[in-house]
Amino acid sequence: MRYKGWLIYNGGLLTKKFIELNEWYVESAKKLAIDLLPIANSELFCQIEEGKVTLEPQLTRPDFVLFLDKDIQLACQLESLGLQVFNSANTIEVCDNKLLMHQQLAKAELPQPLTIFAPMLFSHVKEPNPAFLDHVEEKLGYPLIAKEGFGSFGEHVYMVDDRHQLEAIARKLLHKPHLFQAYIKSSHGQDIRVHVVGDRVVASMKRVSELDFRANVTRGGKMFKIEPNDAFSELAIAASKAVGADFSGVDLLIGPNDEPIICEVNSNAHIKNIYQATSIDVSDYIFEHILTTL
Ligand SMILES: Nc1ncnc2c1ncn2[C@@H]1O[C@H](COP(=O)(O)OP(=O)(O)O)[C@@H](O)[C@H]1O
Ligand SMILES: [Mg+2]
Repeated sequence: MRYKGWLIYNGGLLTKKFIELNEWYVESAKKLAIDLLPIANSELFCQIEEGKVTLEPQLTRPDFVLFLDKDIQLACQLESLGLQVFNSANTIEVCDNKLLMHQQLAKAELPQPLTIFAPMLFSHVKEPNPAFLDHVEEKLGYPLIAKEGFGSFGEHVYMVDDRHQLEAIARKLLHKPHLFQAYIKSSHGQDIRVHVVGDRVVASMKRVSELDFRANVTRGGKMFKIEPNDAFSELAIAASKAVGADFSGVDLLIGPNDEPIICEVNSNAHIKNIYQATSIDVSDYIFEHILTTL
């Protein structure tokens, strides 16, 4: 029997990189007798019609949906229609928002840096609350890390060296969800990316940057294949489980005693970098996992 899957990608991301990625998944799926149909999120119209959830155009129902986008309402709509979506809408939503992600990880009492969420303010408020900034400064000291709730490639992660910079960043992010976090000095310019599928680690790399405190490859981080020790593997699996992920890329910081500390869980981690670093094709594991879950 052949399986049918949909691959949902973002209609606004039609660059060569993303087209190649879709083709990669389609080819990989074929190895397991899966016909994978790429569909842009913008091609599907979600409706509530006569009080019921509907989708247009009405396509043949797939056996599963591989959801590589962050369009949460579309993922929810597909789930409401009874389709199995990987990762689930809830996992994608939690991982997309770093504040929700840290809260979810805390439910499982997993090690994370000391993190303080900025209060959400109405648009007529023009200045951050000085008492809040005093609190951040007192709890975290300098340098500290500021992060926007939504962001990737290290683009929305900032190092803050003093009160002047803290006030400037707090003002800049005033109306966006953001957080402040302890700077893990022992992990400066390096982290461990662990790909988890189901409940096992399938590939890992260390990323090291000579240029920046952020180890992201897009910012110049170099990749090295590694075999993580048990502490790193177990924490990556626990973090992936805590957000309910079927597959994930967990970023782990390296603590002062070489212990792992969770930086973030990505529900849609890119498979190309890890392939270049390790020659491991994570998509093979993802499809195997999906078929065993169906
Ligand atoms: N608290 C921290 N202490 C030290 N380095 C950090 C900290 N948080 C993030 N980093 C560095 O910044 C990088 C990007 O942060 P991350 O939260 O993963 O954001 P993004 O989603 O943009 O990748 C991490 O890979 C790590 O190298
Ligand atoms: Mg990251």
